[in-house]
Amino acid sequence: MVRHLTELEKLAGAPLPAASEIADIFRRDDTAKLKSAAEYERIMRDLAFGVDFTDHMARAVWTVEEGWAQKEITQYAPLSLDPAAAVLHYGQEVFEGIKAYRHADGSVWTFRPAYNAARLNMSNRRLAIPELPVEDFLASLVGLIRADQKWVPEGAGASLYLRPFIIATEAFLGVRAAKRYDYLVIASPSGPYFKNGFEPINVWVDREYHRAGPGGMGNVKTGGNYAASLLPKVVAHENGYDEVLFMDAATNTYLDELGGMNVFVVKADGSVATPELTGNILPGGTRASIIELLTDIGVEVREERIALTQLLAQISAGEVVEMFACGTAAVVTPIGSLTGTDFSVEVPSGELTRRIHDEITAIQTGKQPDRFGWLYQLAGSDR
Ligand code: COI
Repeated sequence: MVRHLTELEKLAGAPLPAASEIADIFRRDDTAKLKSAAEYERIMRDLAFGVDFTDHMARAVWTVEEGWAQKEITQYAPLSLDPAAAVLHYGQEVFEGIKAYRHADGSVWTFRPAYNAARLNMSNRRLAIPELPVEDFLASLVGLIRADQKWVPEGAGASLYLRPFIIATEAFLGVRAAKRYDYLVIASPSGPYFKNGFEPINVWVDREYHRAGPGGMGNVKTGGNYAASLLPKVVAHENGYDEVLFMDAATNTYLDELGGMNVFVVKADGSVATPELTGNILPGGTRASIIELLTDIGVEVREERIALTQLLAQISAGEVVEMFACGTAAVVTPIGSLTGTDFSVEVPSGELTRRIHDEITAIQTGKQPDRFGWLYQLAGSDR
């Protein structure tokens, strides 16, 4: 069966300008104060996820008069915000997650940036935020990486995690779309998202709270969806679980996603299933890439409604043999158990999850040829 590409996947295939053509769009402030050598050593020695940040950040400002302007690479520093800034009151905010990888020759690459640029604009449209030209998105990453190239770590599971985001900064308390926005990109030298790396996680299946409902914002990347996931996560952590699996809000019957990750199910017959994009689920770039990769190696992938009761029965009957979560931050992480108020099942570990993890990370880090054309070079080998 031929799979039709989503709008995002189509946009992700658009040709992009080379980094050298756009490297100067964000003007670098050469007076930025850099962290000390001791601080740099400390951060790079022991990489956590999203804890420490580099010397610079990218920034641009949107106003009604000028559109996106004031594009610069400046010192990483606290923001000065008016207490009436709309983002602080009504949550008008969108963000992305994308990584930079160092290859063996020292060059720095990123993974499917046009996908993230297109998804950022999908989120912008939903939150009534002006779209950011793809070229500006890309130029901000190139400019930031070129200023902070020494911060791209090397080694298994290590990357420079990039967090582009847009916030409504107009000082106004009326409820309407703001008339001023700030775009920023910050960067965090990071190790694995889960401290135990590629180890199975224990998942709490929540049927009390939902992260998003029909017509809401579940298919775009905005802070509110993550805020909605925090209370169930706190409770799950207190009870010893690593993550929460959310169900569809309309019927409480079908799997949605894990809040920060999509979910996949591997069947004993060798096929794979993942929840279809209903509008409540974030269309993950890693999710899309896994579907393409599996299809390429001859594995049948179905995007479909996955009913929890049926899934539990299939796990118990040995018809489901692996499950995993995936996302930019989490990459590919095996799921070791599912627990809810009235059930607890162990999910076996298997070879396919490991293979997908290894293939995706080998492409990202340049250890395997990029046969899908997913990589984009941000900078050369000079540090
Ligand atoms: C990402 O995977 O990049 C995300 O934004 C999700 C979050 C759990 C870090």
